[in-house]
Amino acid sequence: MPPKPLIAGNWKMNGLTADVREIGTLAQALKDGAGCDVAVFPPLTLAAAAREKAGGLLWIGAQDCHTKESGAHTGDISAAMLADMGLQGVIVGHSERRQDHGERDSDVRLKALAAHRAGLCAIICVGETRAEREAGQAEAVVLGQLAASVPESAVPGNTVIAYEPVWAIGTGLTPTQDDIAAMHGTLRRALTDRFGPAAADMRLLYGGSVKPANAAEILPITDVDGALVGGASLRAEDFLGIIRAYD
Ligand code: G3H
Repeated sequence: MPPKPLIAGNWKMNGLTADVREIGTLAQALKDGAGCDVAVFPPLTLAAAAREKAGGLLWIGAQDCHTKESGAHTGDISAAMLADMGLQGVIVGHSERRQDHGERDSDVRLKALAAHRAGLCAIICVGETRAEREAGQAEAVVLGQLAASVPESAVPGNTVIAYEPVWAIGTGLTPTQDDIAAMHGTLRRALTDRFGPAAADMRLLYGGSVKPANAAEILPITDVDGALVGGASLRAEDFLGIIRAYD
């Protein structure tokens, strides 16, 4: 049986105090249950308030963590600190962190390891650029990122893999259903080669321009166990339009 799907919302660098009401609206709508787990990753400034509003009906997580548990790293936050504030997960290796902060696979792996040590679920992101896809290198790039970013400590309970083609993020473009199926199948096989049958239970999310209008086409694809949603997670009404695709 495939794992229970997860719809995760990454607010990125968006949201002020008033926007936490969207989490309250989500929690209210999720009271009667949903066909998937739901998570929101707001900016850290809103995480405590979001957690309170979530009332345990959805997970609240962070968008990054440091590789170390503590120390002289001004401005950074450790996974242990995130766990200490009651968060359940952390996104690591998002392409925007890779691009804006020069994060390499080896950094992403250490961050995921730090998340596991702190008892957090790591949402590990991989994905090719447009140039890499056009050069026919998408699969090799993504497999390379997967191998080098996922630590040995990964198990289905502490790791989610998000495939996000960089060219699909925030552009309104999405790969074809066949391309998504092919990449997710490739990821599942690679995880099975490395982790054995447990890999069948590791959730593989698709991310990149998922919206209420295309969720019903993307989410049923084999080996797609949910979505990592950016823009369409900022308003509860849009996000619920994606969550409800599992009803
Ligand atoms: O983390 C989320 C992704 O980068 C997708 O963003 O849904 O705005 O394309 P998007």
